[in-house]
Amino acid sequence: MTTPRLKTSIAILGCGDVGSTLAYTLILNPICSEVILVDPKTDLLNAQVRDLGDATFRGNTGCKIRAGSHKDAGQADVVVITAGAKQKVGESRLSLLTRNLHILQSIFTSMSPISSHTILLLVANPVDILTYFAQKLSGLPPSQVLGTGTSLDSARLRGVLAEKAGVAPNSIDAYVLGEHGDGQFIAWSNITIGTAPLELGLPNFTPELKKDIAEHTRGAAAAIIASKGCTAYGVANIAASICKYILFNQRTVRPISFYQPSLGCCLSMPCVLGRKGVERAMPIILDETEQRELEDCAKNLRSVIEGAEREFGMRKD
Ligand SMILES: NC(=O)c1ccc[n+]([C@@H]2O[C@H](COP(=O)([O-])OP(=O)(O)OC[C@H]3O[C@@H](n4cnc5c(N)ncnc54)[C@H](O)[C@@H]3O)[C@@H](O)[C@H]2O)c1
Repeated sequence: MTTPRLKTSIAILGCGDVGSTLAYTLILNPICSEVILVDPKTDLLNAQVRDLGDATFRGNTGCKIRAGSHKDAGQADVVVITAGAKQKVGESRLSLLTRNLHILQSIFTSMSPISSHTILLLVANPVDILTYFAQKLSGLPPSQVLGTGTSLDSARLRGVLAEKAGVAPNSIDAYVLGEHGDGQFIAWSNITIGTAPLELGLPNFTPELKKDIAEHTRGAAAAIIASKGCTAYGVANIAASICKYILFNQRTVRPISFYQPSLGCCLSMPCVLGRKGVERAMPIILDETEQRELEDCAKNLRSVIEGAEREFGMRKD
């Protein structure tokens, strides 16, 4: 008889603002038996483990928290990568690429060998580009390497539409697709409010409102960063939900960043999430404008990838 697996574990690489908030979210809403935190700043790491550990003693969370190495992380069921520099006020996500790709390379060198069952979830920015490189560097199948992508932008979109329509956010189906960044676009043609298409569910919908909503969704992170220096609660909540869909094999449909063979990059499209990661892409019918936005977005991401491959000596030309 083989020994049963006693633990489910989520490793979080980087225990700064996002990583520690994610760990706290997982303690309050436990979905695994162990959270492993990894960070080269050992004083910070140990302090976070002690502080978060205090939140596990009230007795109704079965989740333990401990410090670990990159090697330990490589054996976890899910590895969430929040390690990396964050945007300063006015900075774009893409400007973080060189710094965060160096960090990503060093992570995979230290984590190897990675368990063939591990699912990687990228949070660090620019998340679509790092998801692409994480897949190359890890050697895992593309279905096991995901990025939070536009799932946070989509939640923000559902929030603003819910407020306008006077219904709960979970009564709305609405997807922001493409890049988690300036190249994102809203699949307006697919939005439903309860049982109704957008125009029926939101009778006061105008072109001005459409523009305002798109700007709000695109600019939400920058506005928060301008006032408090980071965003953490929203993305931590989204990352914790994605971990749950995976570990509970929940088969939930969400827009997340994953490899798109026909476009040659990672960007967000709807997919079914389960224990194997992306169980399958979920088809979506886009109108002509949305299809063009998708293609433009992929073209830009491809050119950033090619630039980074040149800079990091990963291309022959
Ligand atoms: N995808 C999203 O929606 C989203 C939202 C918010 C933030 N982010 C991104 O998440 C990242 C983290 O943001 P933050 O606010 O937590 O930053 P932070 O500076 O507070 O924390 C980052 C941590 O990563 C650690 N780190 C560096 N190299 C490491 C390595 N090799 N292994 C493990 N840890 C390492 C640092 O020591 C630091 O503690 C940034 O890139 C930010 O842009 C993404």
